[in-house]
Amino acid sequence: MKKIRLYPSLKEIDYNEGESVLSTLEKNGFALPNNCRAGACGECKMKIRQGEIDQGFILDMALSQSERDEGYALMCMAKLKSDVLEVEWADVDARPKLFPPKENVLYMVIEKLPVTHTIMRLKLKALSTPLRFWPGQYVQLGDAEKKIPYKSYSIANIPNNDGEILLYVTNKGGGTSQWIHEGLQVGDRVKMNGPYGTFIGNPSVETPVLCLAQGSGLAPIMSLASAALMRGGFKYPATILFSAKSKNEVFEKGWFKFLETKFRNFRFNVTYTAEEYPGEKFGRIQKILPELYKDLSAYSLYIAGTPEFVEENKKLCLELGAKSENIHTEGFFSTLS
Ligand code: FES
Repeated sequence: MKKIRLYPSLKEIDYNEGESVLSTLEKNGFALPNNCRAGACGECKMKIRQGEIDQGFILDMALSQSERDEGYALMCMAKLKSDVLEVEWADVDARPKLFPPKENVLYMVIEKLPVTHTIMRLKLKALSTPLRFWPGQYVQLGDAEKKIPYKSYSIANIPNNDGEILLYVTNKGGGTSQWIHEGLQVGDRVKMNGPYGTFIGNPSVETPVLCLAQGSGLAPIMSLASAALMRGGFKYPATILFSAKSKNEVFEKGWFKFLETKFRNFRFNVTYTAEEYPGEKFGRIQKILPELYKDLSAYSLYIAGTPEFVEENKKLCLELGAKSENIHTEGFFSTLS
């Protein structure tokens, strides 16, 4: 069987004969940026190090002659001719390349909904070219004219063609978060900066995954988990353990129930720290994690919440055997206002 080899990780993927390189990569969990899927936009450009392809019909404006001379090709229209095709793919861990952040990109608030007594769900739609992002990244939202400082909020949805961005904003009782909760209205125009951050999943990970989250730290975890599951091919157990005081603090239950039903390897578990419910987990993650997981050495871990939450749980995961290179954290939430 023909192979696609990713450089520099040298990971090899079986090529599905007759398909584009882009489709084969996607089916194996590698989300190569793309847009038109027809050789017209240039988004799926990659550099070929070794091997031969049939490039098919593509537009000159999507791939210049000098790019062709340098070895670039468009993967949405590329089919393998040689037994092995080696392409340049990000870093050694095969993490995707980041999109350059942009500033003042115009969006409109199209939905605003309180999901808990402190967290607001905000859906924004691009009025111009949408920001392109990877699951787990964040944007900055504020209003320079109104002197509302720009603050960082994780994107909760997955990259999509609708130009939509979903945020969960915790009201800190002042500053930007209060403006979002109380001032910003459906129909308002806002300018966003981003995407930023490297809290992104490794699509080639071949380990069970455990995510620990608290409050609006669930947002990037939701994006990462949704992306990993929805693009298919992720076979290992994936669990989210969400810490909440009571049932009133658990949001997006419907979405997580959907993921649990559709993907048998996925579980969304909640541990309650203030209210006790029959049959439900009770106690802080610090208490229940060692009971649930004796050994985390084989796991990839994603932790998001307040810096204190992240720090204490990272320490605990290390004590339970997790390897530090397999622990990914996002802990800027309590600095928001
Ligand atoms: S996705 Fe547009 S050229 Fe490949």
